[in-house]
Amino acid sequence: RYEKWWLTFGISALIIFLSIVGIQAFHQGHKPPSAKAFVDPERVSETEPFTKPGLHKVQGKDWDYELVIVAAAFSFTPGEVEIPKGAKVKIIATTRDVVHGFEIAGTNVNMMLEPGYISEYVTTFNKTGEFLIICNEYCGTGHHMMSARIKVV
Ligand code: CUA
Repeated sequence: RYEKWWLTFGISALIIFLSIVGIQAFHQGHKPPSAKAFVDPERVSETEPFTKPGLHKVQGKDWDYELVIVAAAFSFTPGEVEIPKGAKVKIIATTRDVVHGFEIAGTNVNMMLEPGYISEYVTTFNKTGEFLIICNEYCGTGHHMMSARIKVV
């Protein structure tokens, strides 16, 4: 009788344990790999650093600039940014609505932007020229038009 009770208890514990592992795996699988922090998607424009999208010089960090980007269907803010050649830049990006992609064509910068998450990537712009930021996650009818420009000068 006791054995039966222990068996039930053991199986229940196992089921609970597996559910927890499963839920965790699901959540981690859901979180974009570049995500470093959380943000309320409905309050992005009131949340630092997204109050001031654009390129900002920073001091005392491992990078020279921070490039703050807000994505929303179907554009990036800012739509155009100039970066000095050789600058080490930390890109800090999020989305106000749905999942968007953030790819700088011709580079290895490729992030997924998910509502609620802040994605980050540190890179150095060593080549002058114009680079296209494109959204590479389908986000709706205007997806193919969603882009921005980086000018490295
Ligand atoms: Cu944004 Cu596709």
